[in-house]
Amino acid sequence: MMAVEPRKAAEARKAASHLVTVLGAGSRRISSFACSEDEPVLAAMLRARCGPVVCGCFGGGCGVCRMRVVSGRFAKAKAMSRAHVSEADERDGVALICCVKPLSDMEIEELRPQA
Ligand code: FES
Repeated sequence: MMAVEPRKAAEARKAASHLVTVLGAGSRRISSFACSEDEPVLAAMLRARCGPVVCGCFGGGCGVCRMRVVSGRFAKAKAMSRAHVSEADERDGVALICCVKPLSDMEIEELRPQA
């Protein structure tokens, strides 16, 4: 068996990082931040302090982080409340960004608050 240097092992454990771009009205670019594959997009947005969401439950229940994923791939880390994301919304790219982790660079768009 071959020993692995601790530094190389730590690098191997480090998840890939992707660029998340926040779009506003008219697809105008508002900000961008890095998010690793093992971190919810909302957590990275708050850490970078560059996005429209400034708080939330982080549990998929309050809906304040509801946004549309315009491009990119992601994994669902938690179930999203159907009270905030219907099946039709989900097919249209709507997601609770506290519940998703990026698998590629992503573009996400602000949504108007739900009525
Ligand atoms: S922060 Fe509450 S649902 Fe995302």
